[in-house]
Amino acid sequence: MDISVIGSGYVGTTIAACFADLGHSVVNIDVDADVVEAINAGDTLIHEEGLPELVAKHAGENGTGRLRATTNYEALLETDVTFLCLPTPQYDDGSIDLSIIETGAEQLGETLKGKSGWHTVVVKSTVVPGTTDDVLTPIIESASGRTAGEDVGVGMNPEFLREGTAVTDFLDPDKIVLGADDERTRRDMQEVFAPLEAETGAPVVETDTRTAEMIKYANNAFLATKVSLINDLGNICKEFGIDAYEVADAIGLDDRISEQFLRSGVGWGGSCFPKDVAAIIAAAKANDYEPTVLEAAVELNDKQPERLLELLDSHVDVEGERVAVLGLAFKPGTDDTRNSRAIEVIEGLQARGARVVGYDPVATENMRERFPDVTYAESAAEALEGAVGAVVVTDWDEFAALDDGFEAMKELVVVDGRRIIEPTPKITYEGLTW
Ligand code: UDX
Repeated sequence: MDISVIGSGYVGTTIAACFADLGHSVVNIDVDADVVEAINAGDTLIHEEGLPELVAKHAGENGTGRLRATTNYEALLETDVTFLCLPTPQYDDGSIDLSIIETGAEQLGETLKGKSGWHTVVVKSTVVPGTTDDVLTPIIESASGRTAGEDVGVGMNPEFLREGTAVTDFLDPDKIVLGADDERTRRDMQEVFAPLEAETGAPVVETDTRTAEMIKYANNAFLATKVSLINDLGNICKEFGIDAYEVADAIGLDDRISEQFLRSGVGWGGSCFPKDVAAIIAAAKANDYEPTVLEAAVELNDKQPERLLELLDSHVDVEGERVAVLGLAFKPGTDDTRNSRAIEVIEGLQARGARVVGYDPVATENMRERFPDVTYAESAAEALEGAVGAVVVTDWDEFAALDDGFEAMKELVVVDGRRIIEPTPKITYEGLTW
């Protein structure tokens, strides 16, 4: 099929390149000329495992020609289906800001005036239940002069892409969710995903748009709450001197629980869990429902960094002293520091009057933007020199082999928030939940 993808962020670029790899002809539309130029040169500015290879394979002069990019919305007129992959950032109260995607929908609708015949639009962005039906479809109808279900279709297809594994998550999904409110739209969406379904055998969930929107939020909220639950149980284990990981290994054998997302520690961050959980809480409250468990999951997650620092306090007074923060990214495999637990850890150490030295293999520059006055080391060993304590916030593999580095510390106190350090008799070691 001929597909257009509006938005070239990590979702838009990933799905554009993957659709091309499935055999579709794809045009990626973005306002940023630099992004468009990179893709047309067979390159991408997005750091995702496997994505540069896919873009090089399908775009640029050496590519198959199945992927190209442009800043011109008119390009969608030559396509059958348009995916809307635009950001939905968060307001302070947790609700989502639809202004960018509303503008995109408006421009899409205006552009559709130049096409005769049916066109299918698919919302890919994470939007709260009812947004496709009640907000985006009316915008597209009024801007295009079309009527949903008659000469335009608006469906919803949530993404379940993790940072660092977005290409794999797309090409080997555990499910494909197709939300449509009319048969023509459903058929078009089925045709788009038919090669992926044939290739992987992934189950296809066919539903309406607002259920599809909710499936995305429920998926993320459940996973975040599962992590907060194992952190709650992990905190109890710590009080009893029990290793939460030994408990997690045992309960993970119950296939109703599964062993995934049972790594207790300093908590969840990133650009999705915090935003999506806050958004569904805000949407629930806007409908006069108090999501008690979700709110408790957020509250517990917010407390884990302080628990890490209280363990440090129990061994050393950090005021005026150097403390190493090992790991700044919200998880390994990415340079993304959005909502990283390291943010609260750095703030907590600064509140204690400590001199913070941060280290991360790839995320330092992103954290420096937020904390320009913090010192950053080029290596973990450098961060540890003269430190009275070290707190581990990201489970980078390299931290598992640090034992010599601890020798340079002034006091050998190590508090591990991610179960990655190999304790040795030389150091005073504390595990957050073990
Ligand atoms: C998540 C969802 O997994 C993905 O499906 C969705 O599309 C986007 O949001 P991502 O944010 O990239 O993906 O990260 P993920 O790997 O899910 O981890 C989220 C956070 O939970 C990280 O901070 C991670 O450190 C933490 N986590 C995860 C734990 O603390 N313990 C675990 O056992 C698993």
